[in-house]
Amino acid sequence: KGCKLIGCGSAVPSLKISNDDLAKVVDTNDEWISVRTGIRNRRVISGKESLTTLAVEAAHKALEMAQVDVDDVDLILVCTSTPDDIFGCAPKVQKALGCTRNPLAYDITAACSGFILGLVSAHCHIKAGGFKNVLVIGADALSRIVDWTDRGTCILFGDAAGAVLIQACDGEDDGLLSFDVHSDGEGYRHLNAALKENETDDELGSNGSVLGFPPRQASYSCLQMNGKEVFRFAVRVVPQSIEHSLAKAGLPASSIDWLLLHQANQRILDAVSTRMQIPSEQVISNLANYGNTSAGSIPLALDEAVRSGKVKPGHTIAAAGFGAGLTWASTIFRW
Ligand code: ACO
Repeated sequence: KGCKLIGCGSAVPSLKISNDDLAKVVDTNDEWISVRTGIRNRRVISGKESLTTLAVEAAHKALEMAQVDVDDVDLILVCTSTPDDIFGCAPKVQKALGCTRNPLAYDITAACSGFILGLVSAHCHIKAGGFKNVLVIGADALSRIVDWTDRGTCILFGDAAGAVLIQACDGEDDGLLSFDVHSDGEGYRHLNAALKENETDDELGSNGSVLGFPPRQASYSCLQMNGKEVFRFAVRVVPQSIEHSLAKAGLPASSIDWLLLHQANQRILDAVSTRMQIPSEQVISNLANYGNTSAGSIPLALDEAVRSGKVKPGHTIAAAGFGAGLTWASTIFRW
């Protein structure tokens, strides 16, 4: 059995925040942000919007493009590090989508590598588990965990969701040609949003003390990042990983129609494409409008490129995600 990608969709929040808007709350300016990152605007959830509403909108659009009925979906993977519920957001998405046949739905947490790992997981579920129609949704609202007083990080991120429908097909038709996946906990210190230690809670306190354990209520730090280290890491591992994926697929770099990287920073996209000798016209970028939307970034950029007619049926795409963990992953797929 193989699988093919037959539909995509995306959704972004309505509230737009420009670099000039940010300059009103932290000591920064449009020039610094656009020169160092390529970012000009980002979208942030507000009002009744949530991760679930974005994920559902993106998923409906993907189903519509794929012409697949919601009740024919048998697996929903929601790739996110900022779920509406820390037990998992996917069953909420399943319910909100209106699935009446209770497909399996669960979350995948791997920050900005999440969507690629979702594609790989979908592929494995189809090959080994007999699933037929899998919705892979990448969705994040990093605005929830960013420190809005830290100019080194708050300028980078935005919220978004993107979805892809992957369908089982005959082996010869396989659209997901290869993949390469990694993680390295040694680099964890460079990018994280960790559980705060030594937090106590009065309400839990009395019972906890009687039972003899230190009472704690979970609370998490804002996103912490060493930007320079993450930059170096991305520029080193992403070309290597794509080369591994190409070798597994038995394809040369010249067969790539589009390079589709996690949208973290325009300078990372430029450095990777230069190293791989891929012309900038073949690099998909929408950073200027949305910033780094974590697990949402790759499917959001794919959806825009498909709907604008850039990515056409039969095109070969090299996609790679990288981020917290540290994690990184790449895949070669055919649209
Ligand atoms: N506005 C103005 N000045 C700033 C800002 C800002 N927003 N942020 C930092 N500066 C200042 C710094 O204080 C420093 O000043 P100094 O020289 O007086 O000390 C100077 O600008 C240079 O700062 P650096 O941090 O060295 O700037 P750098 O060129 O490394 O750019 C950046 C920072 C944009 C964060 C870059 O390192 C980067 O993009 N790294 C990759 C980050 C990334 O992609 N992370 C996402 C990974 S995905 C995930 O899993 C979430």
